[in-house]
Amino acid sequence: MAMIAKKCPHIKVTVVDLNEQRIAAWNDPDVENIPVYEPGLSEVVAEARGRNLFFSTDVDAAIDEAEMVFISVNTPTKTYGAGKGQAADLKWIELCARQIARVSKDNKIIVEKSTLPVRTASAIKDILMHTGNGSQFQILSNPEFLAEGTAVEDLDAPDRVLIGGDSTAEGQTAIQALVDVYANWIPRERILTTNVWSSELSKLTANAFLAQRVSSINSLTELCEKTEADINEVARAIGTDSRIGPKFLKASVGFGGSCFQKDILNLVYIARTYGLQEVADYWEQVIIMNDHQKKRFANQMIRELYNTVNGKKISFLGWAFKKDTNDTRESAAIYVADHLLHEQAQIMVYDPKVLEGQIYFDLDYLGTRTSEENKKGVSVINDPYEACKGAHAIAVLTEWDEFKDYDWQKIYDSMLKPAKIFDGRNLLDANKLRSIGFIVQSIGTKS
Ligand code: UDX
Repeated sequence: MAMIAKKCPHIKVTVVDLNEQRIAAWNDPDVENIPVYEPGLSEVVAEARGRNLFFSTDVDAAIDEAEMVFISVNTPTKTYGAGKGQAADLKWIELCARQIARVSKDNKIIVEKSTLPVRTASAIKDILMHTGNGSQFQILSNPEFLAEGTAVEDLDAPDRVLIGGDSTAEGQTAIQALVDVYANWIPRERILTTNVWSSELSKLTANAFLAQRVSSINSLTELCEKTEADINEVARAIGTDSRIGPKFLKASVGFGGSCFQKDILNLVYIARTYGLQEVADYWEQVIIMNDHQKKRFANQMIRELYNTVNGKKISFLGWAFKKDTNDTRESAAIYVADHLLHEQAQIMVYDPKVLEGQIYFDLDYLGTRTSEENKKGVSVINDPYEACKGAHAIAVLTEWDEFKDYDWQKIYDSMLKPAKIFDGRNLLDANKLRSIGFIVQSIGTKS
């Protein structure tokens, strides 16, 4: 929304949320205090805020005056009832639809921005049509493909924008209205229009394909570690095939983030709902492989630390699910830590952007042990050298650039020997570290 406001000064954009604290943070006079860390975003907000971009908790007023309403609430995986652990929880979507229906006095275009299971638009339409007071609504699907850490660049020059709508004349008019918004800065040939269901399914499919590439390359890391093959060389060799391409072939400790797992689980759930067991099993394997990769990384550390980490100090470099974000949702670090805590390790965490409270929240959210136990097992340290001091081993969980430039000799000198590094991102120069004296295990290469 901030980007739309920046690119379209003639359009008034109001972002509303029930959470007063969050809206207050978006309105903080110092734009560095906005609640999302994303390179370039504070500049975008600084430019548009107060001009044609507003943040408010007055949801009804904003709905009332809007011609177009974007629903951008979260749709987490259900943690209860039917579809638990797989289906998307559409509670917030439904509440939004009901509020829009109650407040609207004139016709509006409703845009699904949240990632939703296929056929959600029809549920929204049902609610709007049956609980509203006669206003007409057109529902569009407009999934977002930006990636965190590069959100501003991605929004500035997206590969494509996708808009799904009805084939009726009213549907086509609504599609055109949204096309006109994006056409303010995006070449028309990059704005694709489809029917609603194709648009909804394309979003799940795009994430499933991307995640599948990561699981595919990760599935081969184990084989590389057993043989003389090197996963980086394999990725480069296959990535030069123009049919395969080089992106999303970086081996890792496992993918995280708010989308991949959730969207695949959704796809699996929908397929099972229609009785398509083979389709569901096929995509579920991407998640199974990812879980395996996280567990395997933790188990490898335990094995290399002489089969016990009880009372041993292990330093985590990175907690975010990828670099350049403070988002930790589904981060591999959480699951690796949980596994090591189970084995009574002492974990010291350093992440350049993630706050201490978030790290404890992530561990507590798993519900594996009490909050006190998590606090006892994990310390969050604001200085990477302090975090590594006296450690038996270091694990690299996020590919933050700054890790590459540390004074590794100084870190080595402060650690217990043999000093071990488990590089879950193949980020560090293993040969250089070995020449200092470290024992290094990089993902997908024989140590
Ligand atoms: C993803 C999609 O890329 C984006 O289009 C969609 O809108 C939202 O979901 P995001 O989750 O922000 O974006 O990050 P992404 O860059 O896709 O990375 C997801 C995870 O995969 C991260 O944990 C990342 O570290 C991991 N990853 C990615 C790898 O392990 N290897 C790779 O080669 C690429």
